[in-house]
Amino acid sequence: MSSCHCQGARSVFSDRLVAKDLRRYRRKGPRKTTRWLIEALQAAGTRGATLLDVGCGVGVIQHELLDNGVVAAVGVEAVPAYLLAARDEATRRGHAARVDFRQGDFIELAGDIESADIVTLDRVICCYPDWEALVTLSLAKTRKLYGVVYPRSNWWSKFGLGLLNFLLWLRRNPFRVFAHPTAAVDAAIRDAGFRRLSYRTTPSWLVVVYGRATV
Ligand SMILES: C[S@@+](CC[C@H](N)C(=O)[O-])C[C@H]1O[C@@H](n2cnc3c(N)ncnc32)[C@H](O)[C@@H]1O
Repeated sequence: MSSCHCQGARSVFSDRLVAKDLRRYRRKGPRKTTRWLIEALQAAGTRGATLLDVGCGVGVIQHELLDNGVVAAVGVEAVPAYLLAARDEATRRGHAARVDFRQGDFIELAGDIESADIVTLDRVICCYPDWEALVTLSLAKTRKLYGVVYPRSNWWSKFGLGLLNFLLWLRRNPFRVFAHPTAAVDAAIRDAGFRRLSYRTTPSWLVVVYGRATV
């Protein structure tokens, strides 16, 4: 993330929004698309696995999977307030010792991050301008399963994200959201030696789990 984009992200994902996200998760559990992603990963096999969650937010995937078979997790997040919330929740659930949190841009940190059996990017590809770098580097860290939630590149997603970008521009916030081309993202993942294990959609989102071709 450029320092400009990163600073923009910090003001979009403000302390207030982060606190609201955590309250919502504690009250209602994972959002529908996150729940689908977790269910698909569990169906593919998470027992005894390690997890790397890029752009982890309040850490929903880690919290859920550490309660259900995953042995250790790393959460990478650019926004410090999200990491504080994720750590707080990990402590509350008694699994803080099994999670390692890293703050910063995954692209810059990737060289120091271990590979994991499962790598997830839940609503993260749309928050990063260079999807190719994000996908390529995260795939390189994936031993078995790769799970992504990202926007469909249809006209209404593009319209909605365009509207959001317009509001960000009005507020002079440099953060932008992106409906990256889904066919190109999918092709890049398959070309790296993965095959689709699960594919679900909402009108705006794709929820896809891939496995290394050897899985
Ligand atoms: C819409 S939020 C989703 C958070 C969480 N995955 C969820 O679904 O609740 C996107 C998050 O990805 C983070 N993010 C985007 N690109 C990133 C990168 N390159 N490195 C680290 N974090 C990133 C942002 O800071 C933001 O918190």
